[in-house]
Amino acid sequence: MDKNCEFGYRAWLQPGKSLVVPDYTFSGDDGFALKELKRGLAKMNENGHGVIDLSVTSDLVPQSYTITGSLEDVVIKGGCEAGLLYGVYGFVARLHQGHTDFNVVEKPVAAKRILNHWDNITGKIERGYSGNSLFFKDGKVGYNLKRLEDYARLLASVGINEISINNVNVTTESAKLITDYLPDVVKIADVFRPFGIRLIISVHFESPAILGGLETSDPLDAEVASWWKKVAAHVYKAIPDLAGFLVKADSEFRAGPMTLGRTQAEGANVIAAALAPFGATVYWRCFVYNCMQDWRDTATDRPKAAYDYFYPLDGQFDDNVIIQIKHGPSDFQVREPNSPLLGNMDKTRQGIEFQVTQEYTGQQKDLYALAVQWEEIFDHPVTDKANTRELIGNKIEAVVAVANVGDDTNWTGHLLAQANLYAYGRMAWNPNLTAEEVTREWAMLTFGADPAVINPIVDMVLKSRSVYEKYNAPLGIGWMVNINHHYGPSVDGYEYMKWGTYHRADTTAIGVDRTTAGTGYTSQYHPHVQAMYENKETCPEEILLYFHRLPYDYKLKSGQTLIQYIYDTHFEGVEGVEGFIKTWESLKGLLPEEAYTPVKARLQLQLTNAIEWRDVINSYFYRKTGSLDAKGRKIYT
Ligand code: GCU
Repeated sequence: MDKNCEFGYRAWLQPGKSLVVPDYTFSGDDGFALKELKRGLAKMNENGHGVIDLSVTSDLVPQSYTITGSLEDVVIKGGCEAGLLYGVYGFVARLHQGHTDFNVVEKPVAAKRILNHWDNITGKIERGYSGNSLFFKDGKVGYNLKRLEDYARLLASVGINEISINNVNVTTESAKLITDYLPDVVKIADVFRPFGIRLIISVHFESPAILGGLETSDPLDAEVASWWKKVAAHVYKAIPDLAGFLVKADSEFRAGPMTLGRTQAEGANVIAAALAPFGATVYWRCFVYNCMQDWRDTATDRPKAAYDYFYPLDGQFDDNVIIQIKHGPSDFQVREPNSPLLGNMDKTRQGIEFQVTQEYTGQQKDLYALAVQWEEIFDHPVTDKANTRELIGNKIEAVVAVANVGDDTNWTGHLLAQANLYAYGRMAWNPNLTAEEVTREWAMLTFGADPAVINPIVDMVLKSRSVYEKYNAPLGIGWMVNINHHYGPSVDGYEYMKWGTYHRADTTAIGVDRTTAGTGYTSQYHPHVQAMYENKETCPEEILLYFHRLPYDYKLKSGQTLIQYIYDTHFEGVEGVEGFIKTWESLKGLLPEEAYTPVKARLQLQLTNAIEWRDVINSYFYRKTGSLDAKGRKIYT
């Protein structure tokens, strides 16, 4: 590797060359965790003597750990091998943050902390913005063993414990991961296993027909059921600890049970029955909607779809099915309400799906702190008594996200996008952590402990979500992007298309009325949440246009009209990016050149993008409304 790139490659696992620790002797468990501990301490300076005792104990619940004692005498205990490993990473991370006394008790809130890779067997990554796949190359399984190990370490260090390796859009070729390519998947599983990470394979719903040569993949067909059983037995003989299969069915031109006149539950259950003897899980995605809508049809409202299909099936899914629900009812937009399915199906196991890859959120060209958005998503009420955060680890037992990595040397393209991967692991482990806490941790582990460096970086990262939102589509309306690559402004890009995502802006108003007087979407929520969204006064303003159709002269709480708000925020968004550039320039000389220069280049690119957004959005609305900017700034006509 080019020496200049090592900093980005190491991400938040920097060697800690300026840290001083005792010259340790080790006692107790001498397995993989000890190896990782020695590795974590290897480059630190030694002074004096100390002891670290490592052990696995049944006194602690699996995956949990404790760290106690002082720098000279440390005891790390894990509830299982993986728990001990987390304890070791947790100890090293705390050294980097200057801790010298330890009284740590940690237990993950969500038992399953999952990353989904949307990697194609061609080596390309769907919605990937940092190079090619770490698992596949040129139509085959292909990887760099050292790199995979280093990746596994990064993930384990933030507590990820399951990963799917292939795209949910399974092709005829990638369907063969459970047959022809299985021996290669075994090798990948072997790399991740010591790090406490189990694999998931995305499977094709029509596998019985495609791979098995059956006439149908109908889940109620006996031959189909026995085909899945046979294949599962074959797969689990090779990888006994495979976590399960992930399925995208009846979604975006992919076949599924509904295509065959069956329900989502019937579709999931036939696979679940095959996996049950192995204690494995079917992750069944709920991203089911009509992607062939006529834009003239105002009765159909896409956000309602997942709930309409899945809610009536509560109680019908087998015990080893987890339905995987995108956090919002649209599709990973900058601002969405939470899916009304979340926490609302009492008899169905649930997972919440996030997107770490920045599809609609700047594609790792623009800086965007997802942690800030996740914090809000966790805050989102489910009832009058509970918010989403409180359901993680209870009704919502899996936290899932689409990965943002590829084979770019620094993993994520934009160096600062590493913060999103770090934050995801940490917040899946503990959703009570704030965006600020995880961002600060990440910054210290990556850039060292100097507050003069850390504070400006943390500040800038935390602001980035709001800045991006300002120059994007206004007030939760979403979607005003190029229809293919989803980057850059195209206000009407989706407007006259089949995808069901319309802002319906005309010369007087914008938005879709999703209240009970409109499409009725709000009625899918608990009455408490429904009431909040139903009323313009109580609907959180930043998401007003998701729920209400409003005239451009509608007065916001600030006193601004809607049109003036659009103009103001778009100017402010550009100013925000200019501010980031200034902040970053103030760090020149304090950061490694290999971090400073590429991030600076991305921020410059972001400025160009923000200006493009500002001018396209402002001109669009000026042309619709004829309203001049009250502050007389330049709007292109
Ligand atoms: C988005 C994304 C697709 C992806 C889909 C999904 O629509 O643009 O690339 O396949 O989500 O989540 O399945």
